[in-house]
Amino acid sequence: MNAGATGREVVLRVYRGDANGGEEVAYTVPVETGMVVLDAIHWIQAHRAPDLAVRWNCKAAKCGSCSAEVNGKPALMCKSRLDHFPEGQPITVRPMKTFPIVRDLVTDVKWNYEINKRIAPFQPRANAEWRWQQSDIDRVQEFRKCIECFLCQDVCHVLRSHELKHQFAGPRFLVRIAGLEMHPIDGADRVPFLKDTAGIGLCNITKCCTEVCPEGITITDNAIIPLKERVVDRYYDPVQRVWRAITGAKDGT
Ligand code: SF4
Ligand code: SF4
Ligand code: FES
Repeated sequence: MNAGATGREVVLRVYRGDANGGEEVAYTVPVETGMVVLDAIHWIQAHRAPDLAVRWNCKAAKCGSCSAEVNGKPALMCKSRLDHFPEGQPITVRPMKTFPIVRDLVTDVKWNYEINKRIAPFQPRANAEWRWQQSDIDRVQEFRKCIECFLCQDVCHVLRSHELKHQFAGPRFLVRIAGLEMHPIDGADRVPFLKDTAGIGLCNITKCCTEVCPEGITITDNAIIPLKERVVDRYYDPVQRVWRAITGAKDGT
């Protein structure tokens, strides 16, 4: 027996297929201490199915590559310990449903990068004071932790069930916009984009995105709700409109 071997086995039901269809295939894997789902997938590749397609890189929950649906829940395979699942029961591993499948566990996530390109980048205000309070930095630092795993995009019903990719940017990009909009010296105006292109009004604050984020970003409360408030202030609050006309202030500042 290997040094870390436990003498136990686990059955993984892994989706095998492509855009033309597929099925779950069961593989029995010997369990070692501390093993994660990605380890089990690698064991299957090494011993049973060398053609099993899977995307991964860091194995440290930092590159965002190994996103999949484990027992029906969007998760990083490298952060899903086998001993956190009920013993004696199979574990299903399927590709993210929201994105087109390439093969097996690999999906095509390029739509996300297309959305990303449309967001106005950081633009410091003219004559900006390049010193600011730690509390201002703390506010946007959370959003910079995103590893672009797209698990939040996968779970969001607006993209997953309603397939509104043409109308809604999804939580990951609302997080990115929040990091830019709340930056103390950024001067770009992304509020019209939020309303008309990012489709923030389609989010009904179910918080599913926050629940699956492996970085623990409080997506809904800290990013989406304050951005929704900016859209409401801009388009639906006459007092705010007059105030901005007089002072030239940016929304939410
Ligand atoms: S809170 Fe909004 S963005 Fe997050 S999963 Fe729900 S609908 Fe999608
Ligand atoms: S916000 Fe969280 S769940 Fe969404 S892409 Fe970034 S790290 Fe992943
Ligand atoms: S392999 Fe990098 S996040 Fe899992």
